[in-house]
Amino acid sequence: MYDTIVESAFRRDVVQGLSASQKTLSSKYFYNAAGDELFRQIMACPEYYLSRAEEQLLRDHSAAMVRACAKRLGYFDIVELGAGDGSKTVHLLREALQQGCIHQYIPIDIPASSVDYLLHTLAPQLPGLAIEGIVGEYLPALDQALTASQRPKLVLFLGATIGNLLPAEAWAFCWQLRERLRPGNLLLVGFDLKKDPATILAAYNDQAGLTSAFNLNLLQHINDELGGNFEVGAFAHYPVCDPATGACKSYLISQCAQRVTLDDGTAFEFAPGEAIYMEVSQKYSVAEIEELGRTARFLSVHTFFDAQQRFVDVLWQRG
Ligand SMILES: C[S@@+](CC[C@H](N)C(=O)[O-])C[C@H]1O[C@@H](n2cnc3c(N)ncnc32)[C@H](O)[C@@H]1O
Repeated sequence: MYDTIVESAFRRDVVQGLSASQKTLSSKYFYNAAGDELFRQIMACPEYYLSRAEEQLLRDHSAAMVRACAKRLGYFDIVELGAGDGSKTVHLLREALQQGCIHQYIPIDIPASSVDYLLHTLAPQLPGLAIEGIVGEYLPALDQALTASQRPKLVLFLGATIGNLLPAEAWAFCWQLRERLRPGNLLLVGFDLKKDPATILAAYNDQAGLTSAFNLNLLQHINDELGGNFEVGAFAHYPVCDPATGACKSYLISQCAQRVTLDDGTAFEFAPGEAIYMEVSQKYSVAEIEELGRTARFLSVHTFFDAQQRFVDVLWQRG
């Protein structure tokens, strides 16, 4: 049932996106089983500093984070939006277990394969922790997690995933999160900070071609699930970084004039050099993050930096 809804939403979004004057595909469809595996490889590649920075941050600050949460929430559940492989979250969960303040961990993600992978890899590392995954979209799945128990919640949104929204969308998303959370609940959000644009651009244009393969995999995903006939090699990955706005955007560029169809006969024409807008990875200054939290009406509890000040996890409280 869920798979059917997901398939029809995927088709609707692909048709809408590729019919727009600026063709676009939603980055949430990057993450099928192949996309998950590619993202795990990206996280380990030398240019993609984000994961290493946030992992170090979590290693260094998990104890303080958990103390800050336990002080405000007592005994609580951790809900994670877009949990991925949970390889960084494990530090926080281990610490919460040690401090005896966590009841349950509820990871949320779209692909069932991702949630299964996470359950199989995390459970043996965290004996005694109750883990209940939810396959679904952020907000409906969060509603499910919030209504499942009255216990206080810490909601995680890590990995600079908030950067996959443009700033106005990020604000709207934070506002929607705030409306759902109960007074006193906490939100921990990971942001990638503005820095040398060459460093940022390299992270999305790695030498091994993993980010390119990750973007192109979405065309293959369309071929596999919607009966598309994309010639994947006829598109090229093209990232650009604007240091003024902090937006690093990825495009796929059509290498020739081509026509692509889906199994229901829907057709899309591509001119040579035409771009499909794939994803934004928005970078923030600390002041912009503070402004975002304030205008979404969260109270700032603490800002945790990695040692090289490349990345922050901010802890906000719903007032
Ligand atoms: C950039 S990855 C980050 C993964 C992990 N949080 C980390 O820090 O390594 C984004 C994750 O969010 C998930 N995701 C993207 N859009 C989503 C949505 N609308 N609802 C639920 N999960 C989503 C993806 O499947 C993916 O696992």
